[in-house]
Parts: sequence; structure tokens; C-alpha cells
Amino acid sequence: MSYVFHRDTRADMPVVVRGEGIWIEDSNGKRYLDASGGAAVSCLGHSHERVIAAVRDQVGRIAFAHTGAFSSEPAEQLAELMVRNAPGRMARALFVSGGSEATEAAIKLARQYHMERGEPSRHRIIARRQSYHGNTLGALSASGNMARRALYQPYLQDWSHIAPCYPYRDRHHDETEEAYGLRVADELETEILRVGPETVSAFILEPVVGATLGAVAAVPGYLARVRTICDRYGVLLMFDEVMCGMGRTGTLYASEFDGVVADIYIVAKGLGAGYQPIGAVIASEGVYAAIHDGSGFFQHGHTYMGHPVACAAALAVQVAIREEGLLARVQAGGATLRALLEERFGNHAHVGEIRGRGYFVGLELVADRTSKATFDPALAMHSRVKTAAMENGLICYPMGGTIDGKSGDHVLVAPPYITTDDELAEIVERVGDAIDRAISSVSH
Ligand SMILES: Cc1ncc(COP(=O)(O)O)c(C=O)c1O
Repeated sequence: MSYVFHRDTRADMPVVVRGEGIWIEDSNGKRYLDASGGAAVSCLGHSHERVIAAVRDQVGRIAFAHTGAFSSEPAEQLAELMVRNAPGRMARALFVSGGSEATEAAIKLARQYHMERGEPSRHRIIARRQSYHGNTLGALSASGNMARRALYQPYLQDWSHIAPCYPYRDRHHDETEEAYGLRVADELETEILRVGPETVSAFILEPVVGATLGAVAAVPGYLARVRTICDRYGVLLMFDEVMCGMGRTGTLYASEFDGVVADIYIVAKGLGAGYQPIGAVIASEGVYAAIHDGSGFFQHGHTYMGHPVACAAALAVQVAIREEGLLARVQAGGATLRALLEERFGNHAHVGEIRGRGYFVGLELVADRTSKATFDPALAMHSRVKTAAMENGLICYPMGGTIDGKSGDHVLVAPPYITTDDELAEIVERVGDAIDRAISSVSH
């Protein structure tokens, strides 16, 4: 008997009791290899001494003081580290309690930016289909994840969604990757002109799409083109790096790979690595100046924003990533992981594509590799993979509706940055076993 209102009210949830490195243990003593850090969260694994010590130390000093009255030492230090290490010319970091809150804050910041500059008609967010920016109503309005939107559609804002950058499915046979990227990026300009540039506040995208598409990076040239289009029409560019950022792809910000700078960055997950709930918005000098030189007051806040314990945990996580050389580890381990996946799934009849970057990879499952036909959605292949994985002591992140919210299945693998080559080999073996068992459960 459980009194917890679980997400799945009919599921019999194992109760987690401890974690060590990349392993999690439940109350029955069963051990699980955490190959996705939950949902790309636990980037340092589960028992990092330095982070635990930082949390203990901060709770002992001061756990909470309202940000309407005080700043705190960990918030100040974390903000400095975040701003100094961000791409481009960033000015300030604002801390909230997770990814959805960070997206909400970013959406509001964009609106206030335009108001302060005398452009009150700019109220529209443009986002992409097959994206996810959070579950609160503003963030969900921006999200193009059809399955998560469906129930709440009447509550949502009527914002715009253009095509994602998803070459495996959408690139024409006679098109280069670059030409494809420019074609879909140009949908942004078409949409801005359709709705009227004077109504558009910001364009938000995940530089490497996470849960909804399964680790799909923008093709070369795509981000540069959307940057140009945003500049042309005075639209703010927001990179949602909640899942792909903070080292997950081998660079601190995933978009560093593309050399394109946003006006607003949104990060969470790997920021606090699960040791505390935290997300952040990092604003460029231009965005911050509009508020600072205008009304001087950002009309947004939460009780727990800038929480000292959350900031202390995130500070320790970010220092650990730097001092333990974990970006280099993700780059090297990412190449190993890719090679292992190619070896295991390169000729697999039901893996259509292996994709992603660093420790952020996706496998798209197909019924047929040549035609790229999906499995019948009624089979819920992703759920079968999840069940088979859990039975076998593996946590990965399978998801359905890859193509349009209904059809398609993929499996996301996002191990902690500390994962060794031997552990990567075990992950790939267990992922292979889960996929094979899921497929054979429907073919017999
Ligand atoms: C890209 C992206 N943005 C936003 C969110 C929302 O973050 P949270 O679940 O912490 O509210 C997520 C969560 O998966 C995400 O992957």
C-alpha cells in the first residue's frame, strides 16, 4: 500500500534506497545500472562525496533566506562561474528549481525585454514540433511534444511550431545535410513573416533534441541560419539546453559545437546532477541591460528561486566537472560508446539510426530498416524496452511517438560522465538485450 500519488497509479514501483557511482539499489537489494542518469540528470553518478559535503555544509550554515531580501554566497559564486563560462557575452544567471521553471522564466524575460524596449506587440513564441521545454503551461505551450500537450491543449497558448531538424526522417534523398538544414531553418523566416515580425518575441529550440526525438543534433549550418533570421527580425534566440547542456555532449554547452550564441540559455538537469533541484536562465548583456536600464525589476519570481542549498550543490557539481576533467572524459568515452553501439547495432535489423554526441546518444527503432517503417504504435515498443531493461537491472530512457507524437520509438542512453569504458561495454550489452527481448516479445 502506497499513499504516494505516483505518475502511473497502477504501477508497482520499486523503492530506491541508495546509489553508488553509476549503480542504484532498491529496497529488495536489486541493483540497476543507471545508463541514462534517470532523464539525463545524474551526470556525476550517485554518491559524489564533494557534492554531498557541499550540501551538508550549506544546510548547516543557512538553508533558506528569501531572495526578495538576500543574495547568498553559493548563488553569487555559481552565477559568476556560469556567466564566465557561457558562450558569447552573457551578463547574469537566474536560478530556479528545474527545467520547466527555467523555461517559464526565459519566456517571461523575453516578453519583458521587448516591453522595456517599447515593443509591446511582441508576444508570440516560435518553437519546433517534436520538442520539449517543460510541463508548466507556458513551457508546454512552447513544447512540440504532442503526447504531453494533448490533454491540456485547451489550456495552451496559440504559439507557432515549425519543423524540427530531423535529417533521418525528413532530409530528401537528393539533398545535402547543409541544404536540408537551411531549408528547415528557413521555415522560421516564413513563420515570422506569416504571423508578423512585430508579434514575435522569441524562438526556442533544443540544440540537440532530447527525450522527444532521441538525441538529434542540428545539422551543420542550421543554428547559424536561425541566428541570422532572429537578428534580421529582432527576435530573441533561446537555446534550451536543459537536457543536452552542462557537458552532456562533451562541451559545457551543446551549442558550443556549432559556434552559435543565443540571447538566453536555459539549463537544468546536469547543472545540479540530481543532488538538488535546480535550473538556470543565463541572459546576454543585451537582454539584461534592457531590464536593468529600464524598469530595473524583473516581474517574475518563486519562493525557492536561488535556493542556497541547491546553488551550493550545483556549484560543487560544476567545479567537479572542471577539476575532474569530465568534459574530456565525455569526449573520449563518447567515441568509445559510439564504437560499441556501432558494433552491436550497426547491422541490427531493427535499429534504423544511431545518433547523438558525447554521452547523449539515441537509437531509433524501426520495423524495417530499408523502408524505415515504424513499429505499430499499439505495440508500445518503447514500453517493452523499458520493462525488459528494468527486469534486467538497466535504466535507460525509451520513448514513443518519435516522429509525430504517435508513431516511432527510440531509446536514449545518457550515462553519468564518470562512466568507464568497461561500464560502457556493459551498458551496451544490456541495452542490446533489452531491445532484443522487447522485439522478440511481439514476434512470437
Ligand atoms: C529540453 C528540456 N527542457 C525542459 C525540460 C523540463 O525540465 P523539468 O522536468 O526539470 O521541469 C526537460 C525535461 O526533460 C527537457 O528535456
